[in-house]
Amino acid sequence: MVAVSAYAQFLLDHPAYAATGALDEWRASEYGRLDAQGQVYLDYTGGGLHADAQVREHARLLGEHVFGNPHSANPSSTETTRLVERARAAVLAWFGGAGDYTAIFTLNASGALKLVGESFPFEAGGRLLLTADNHNSVNGVREFARAKGAQVDYAPLTAPDLRIDAPALEALLAKADPGKANLFAFPAQSNFSGVKHPLALIATARERGWQVLLDAAAFAPTNRLDLREAAPDFATVSFYKMFGYPTGVGCLLVRKSALPRLRRPWFAGGTVNFVTVQGRMHVRSPGEAGFEDGTLDYLGIPAVEIGLRHLGRVGMETIGERVRCLTEWLLAQLLALRHGNGRPLVRVYGPATGEQRGGTVAMNFYDPKGLLLDYRRIEELAGQARISLRTGCFCNPGAGETAEGLTEDDMRAGIAEGAGITLPRFLQVMQGRGGKSAGAIRVSFGLASNFADAERFLAFAAQLRDQATLSIGTSTFDIESCRVVRDGS
Ligand SMILES: Cc1ncc(COP(=O)(O)O)c(C=O)c1O
Repeated sequence: MVAVSAYAQFLLDHPAYAATGALDEWRASEYGRLDAQGQVYLDYTGGGLHADAQVREHARLLGEHVFGNPHSANPSSTETTRLVERARAAVLAWFGGAGDYTAIFTLNASGALKLVGESFPFEAGGRLLLTADNHNSVNGVREFARAKGAQVDYAPLTAPDLRIDAPALEALLAKADPGKANLFAFPAQSNFSGVKHPLALIATARERGWQVLLDAAAFAPTNRLDLREAAPDFATVSFYKMFGYPTGVGCLLVRKSALPRLRRPWFAGGTVNFVTVQGRMHVRSPGEAGFEDGTLDYLGIPAVEIGLRHLGRVGMETIGERVRCLTEWLLAQLLALRHGNGRPLVRVYGPATGEQRGGTVAMNFYDPKGLLLDYRRIEELAGQARISLRTGCFCNPGAGETAEGLTEDDMRAGIAEGAGITLPRFLQVMQGRGGKSAGAIRVSFGLASNFADAERFLAFAAQLRDQATLSIGTSTFDIESCRVVRDGS
């Protein structure tokens, strides 16, 4: 009864949800394994889930064709090339890039980001500008920039919203020498806080003499990225995040006019039209071929077209709407949770409303005295409740550092511990520096999410109210001892 009335209230408060009912049918027909196993999956930012139909269609395709290595002209090779190129065209059409963009298949978004990092003509006098909110696979581009003598800067975030500090960014963008190679890289959506950063920054940066790398890995699974509107020089995605299957295929979308400026640091099989050993020279293949090292995942890539068709059947707008409703509801419910003494149980990092944010929610839990609960123990407890969530810093240290108010001095205190520094030890050091923390709990919604998932997580969170002890299997879980002040846990 309680669940029904909570759902009825949810529908009243979020009337747009009713129009996303097609996803409930999908949940039953294509993602039935979730409910069959009583699983609550809340890590769509980590990885999407695949529909049964995608796998069936892919298996049928593999059963109907003889696919050989595409680097040949024989019939099996030609058939492979035909399907890989069809998938490429489908990707370009999906992102509105046909005509102006090239799609380069990679292993994942990180592979795509590395291609930009290693090929971008960083130079002394040129710049790399990152936002503090970035995945480590974007942060890592700074190593290529540094090695070539470019200046590396970070645009800070504002707390507690974790949005880009607009005046600070403006000042940094103004520093570019338009005669040099300058790259500005930011995520369309944060994988830490769910913040949607303004895509209008792309045009602003380009006007100031920057090329722009848009990391769309966390954005593309629940939003439509239209390259005609956003118009970055580079955009990166991982397909398993969008539709779960296949893993091992990502994509770098490059504006055609930006391609000739990229310089690959090496060549490989498949990337050259001509190589001589005697002459010690090579001629790079034009277009995407010059960037696709070795043999592509030619059996997996046709499944990308199947996945896009699958998303297209229900539409990104429907997925985005459902995720927005669930996120807004969960945020409001979590923030309303109070201990008996009136103190809040949950601290949410980033925006507290659905405004300009996606379905990724980072948080920590606190006891009635306001002391942090150990998120690693909470992940264990969630696991026992068959809830899949994520804990840690989600490969996005900059957003986490801003969220917790960790300073350069704090980080140096951690680094001073030497090579033996571990997360538990770092947490101890931070507790000694004003009770700061590092790391959080993250839940994220996606195309197979429903109200019951959100409700199960809320019920799990509510159990942590006013608790002195919580049972984990046969042992006892004491919230007091779960404070991050403990030694060596
Ligand atoms: C925003 C963002 N960028 C990049 C990546 C890296 O993606 P992958 O691990 O698929 O290379 C992720 C993965 O979580 C991400 O969320």
